[in-house]
Amino acid sequence: MIKAITGTKDILPTDIPKWKYLENIVNKTMESFNYKEIRTPVFEETALFSRGIGEATDIVSKEMYTFIDRSETSVTLKPEMTAAVVRAIIEHSLDKKQPLNKLFYVSPMFRQEKPQAGRFRQFHQFGAEALGFDSPALDAEMIIIPYQILKQLGLNNLSVKINSLGIPSSRENYKLILRDFLKDKFSSLSEESRKRFDVNILRIFDSKEECDQLIMKDAPLLIDYLDEESLKHFEVVKDILTKAQIPFEVDARLVRGLDYYTNTTFEIISGSVGSQSALCGGGRYNLLAEQIGGASIPGVGFAAGIERILLACANENTISLPDEKIDLYVVLLDKTLGTDAFNLALNFREKDIIAEVDYALRSVKAQMREANRLNARYVLFFGGEEYKNGEFVLKNMADGTESKINIKETEKILAIIKGV
Ligand code: HAM
Repeated sequence: MIKAITGTKDILPTDIPKWKYLENIVNKTMESFNYKEIRTPVFEETALFSRGIGEATDIVSKEMYTFIDRSETSVTLKPEMTAAVVRAIIEHSLDKKQPLNKLFYVSPMFRQEKPQAGRFRQFHQFGAEALGFDSPALDAEMIIIPYQILKQLGLNNLSVKINSLGIPSSRENYKLILRDFLKDKFSSLSEESRKRFDVNILRIFDSKEECDQLIMKDAPLLIDYLDEESLKHFEVVKDILTKAQIPFEVDARLVRGLDYYTNTTFEIISGSVGSQSALCGGGRYNLLAEQIGGASIPGVGFAAGIERILLACANENTISLPDEKIDLYVVLLDKTLGTDAFNLALNFREKDIIAEVDYALRSVKAQMREANRLNARYVLFFGGEEYKNGEFVLKNMADGTESKINIKETEKILAIIKGV
């Protein structure tokens, strides 16, 4: 028996209503903020991600689905969208067509992580990117949009954490200070953190190991070494969030797993989903466009994990959708009339009625059972004595009432079903 690959998941028809409910809220919210949808290919040249996200990151060094295709090109299934969106903007000169590009997406992503609750190898993100202005209002918007979406989904157990990583020069200066602080504690660090000491020292803050946490609780913090400009930018972001009544906390230890960030970074955490608790993450990346070979275009964005959000919704029991219904089930009473019944259903379907027929010449009892299983609002009996007299019988399944309708007056059936 061939099964789905570890870490991937079928989204079954019974799951789909919740996905659509979420996507609908995403689409409407993005529209209200005037973001336009973008869809990029599922795979890209590997260099886009290794250069964009950073060679030393876990994503690039351990998690990408990379392979050489038949034309000897190294390609990678997208582990995230930001680099792809920036590539598309540069490639199509969207930045020359308008000063600000506000784009959003809903898309599968691929990372070969160790699967666990809320962590998959193919997962789905919705997110947004705004490129063109270095405005703190856009940073705040990237926190407000997902927060609004999560609130509309009914989620409560949320915390918004924000930080600023400043500009590269202040960060490089700080890294020397952190290195100095850790130098004589190096041997007490975990093996992973000792590796990070050289390649990605800031990520030591992210370690879950007790020995690291013990050391890092006294470490100097980047926020105390920020340059003037970055501090000012951060103050405005905080001010806007406060005025927008977004409850947030500054977490000076928040380091993100991607290297492209400058200035503001943030995560929205849920207390309802266990260890994989980040529902959303993002930040500003003013140097990314240049890093992947374009002009200098400041940008900021966020991405949120749909599986994790739906898990939080399930755990907080926030989404209750009405049972799915169909409008009409055509019950065939006379097996010789099968093609006519099929044709009648076709006519109703053209008029936006959700109609179903029997495909297996089943007994009337079995067809009624099926109509009930499908929550049919109405059943139309096709055949029998009434049909010989030129009439259909239409049964309202909610109250059991039946009406007889001339077979030539199907528009009357339509009017009853549509309630007009
Ligand atoms: P990220 O923090 O890597 O950021 O991912 C964003 C969100 O995707 C996470 O908070 C989480 O909800 C979800 N996610 C990540 N990995 C997995 C996984 N293996 N399984 C399930 N869900 C997962 C980015 O991807 C950046 N591109 C965000 C961004 C946009 N920054 C600027 N613009």
